[in-house]
Amino acid sequence: MFTQLQSPHFFAHRGASAYAPENTLAAFELAARQGAPAIEFDVKLTSDRHVVIHHDQTLDRTTNSSGALAKQPLAALRELDAGSSFSAEFRDEKIPTLEEVFETVGQKLFLNIELTNYATPFDGLVDQVVPLIQKHGLEKRVMFSSFFPHNLLRARQLAPAIPRGQLMLEGASGWWQRLAAGLMDLQAEHPWKADVTASSVQNAHRKGRRVYVWTVNDPLEMHSLRSLGVDAIFTDDPLRAREHFLENIA
Ligand code: G3P
Repeated sequence: MFTQLQSPHFFAHRGASAYAPENTLAAFELAARQGAPAIEFDVKLTSDRHVVIHHDQTLDRTTNSSGALAKQPLAALRELDAGSSFSAEFRDEKIPTLEEVFETVGQKLFLNIELTNYATPFDGLVDQVVPLIQKHGLEKRVMFSSFFPHNLLRARQLAPAIPRGQLMLEGASGWWQRLAAGLMDLQAEHPWKADVTASSVQNAHRKGRRVYVWTVNDPLEMHSLRSLGVDAIFTDDPLRAREHFLENIA
């Protein structure tokens, strides 16, 4: 399905996170209803090695708890409210497991799984995620991304047919990811929006790679990136992306 995703398109970043709590089933299902072809979300391991969806290393910002997610077992995380910090109307939302996401939207949307073990880089996250993709038969409906090249190298070893995109930090701080991307077997590059130029897009395309840009919510930036020829953006706002990235291009 990766090769059938028509450029330009977009990923709903952490789901339709402008309208629903990020990285929840509500945000993913809303993204589908709003016409997103694809979503992006963040995976991490619990203390008992279940794969769950959550962006931050800690629980403080998006739940009614605090402290490191990696220190909690799944059962404790499932008790938390991951919706009220966004809006009272979402107070029943939970931190989802990866399997719940697969069951809920795996057949409706293309999935960018960001491997975000940034605080626990050698926790074996990829080894836990790949069997779940295989169990659900979703090898053709997912891709991996990560700021850590070693996660993508491990993914290539375990599941070489699943596409991989290297995330690159902003500006000078992304030098090591750009260096790694130059050496690796990748199907996509994920640069920060202000680092994209016409020639960086052309260089990636010459290597047969897609260019997927994070995180773009401003209509003017959508127009500008579209004119530079990027293949997709990550956006919190699927409705705005449909209007300004996919349509009405000057
Ligand atoms: O994958 C695009 C974007 O999500 C990368 O940044 O911080 O949202 O994981 P972050």
